[in-house]
Amino acid sequence: TSAPPTRRGALIVVEGLDRAGKSSQCEMLRDSLSRQGQEVKYIRFPDRTTPIGKLIDSYLRGTSHQDDHSIHLLFSANRWEIAKSIEKDITNGTTVIVDRYSYSGVVYSAAKANPTLSLEWAWQPEIGLPRPDICLFLSISPEEAAKRGGFGAERYENEAMQTRVRELFRTIFEKQQDVSIIDAGKSINGVAQEIQDAVASCIVRMDATGAL
Ligand code: TMP
Ligand code: MG
Repeated sequence: TSAPPTRRGALIVVEGLDRAGKSSQCEMLRDSLSRQGQEVKYIRFPDRTTPIGKLIDSYLRGTSHQDDHSIHLLFSANRWEIAKSIEKDITNGTTVIVDRYSYSGVVYSAAKANPTLSLEWAWQPEIGLPRPDICLFLSISPEEAAKRGGFGAERYENEAMQTRVRELFRTIFEKQQDVSIIDAGKSINGVAQEIQDAVASCIVRMDATGAL
């Protein structure tokens, strides 16, 4: 038997507000790709297990305070510390599904309306991170989100913040070409199917352009 051709893995980013169903959908996508025989990993940001991730975790739980810029840079550093391993996986043919990435990074920070923390400022430390092949934005209405249960207890899990985050996601995704907006208000299986279709066409596109 000959070795299978080594094609690089895809970097798939899943974004959305809290309660859009990101984690469940990432798990379903991972299982579906893995049933198709693909090597696949599912990771999420923030990665709260690293030393930087622990600082982020205590900030989110409200047990520590951070300057808006500092915490922004920590979220970014948390991606940078994992970036090499993402690159390695992709090069070795493993598809990596990422639950939240730079888009969450810039949007949540910019939503604070800190006069010295613009969207543009927030993007700078993200430049050079592994580029997603596809970004799936799970879009959910405030009404549907409300039906899925109350807010959690973490920082940012409040109406005012979520409304600004929603608006900013819309602003940046209007300008972004490589984003698939998925109606996450549908049934869990309907959403999963739509995601699988979007990912399948992304992989066809990668093959056609000889992405290596
Ligand atoms: P999680 O609920 O997906 O674990 O994310 C925790 C919170 O952190 C969520 O409110 C979004 C926010 N966040 C940022 O503010 N910046 C980032 O870079 C990321 C990845 C998440
Ligand atoms: Mg959360």
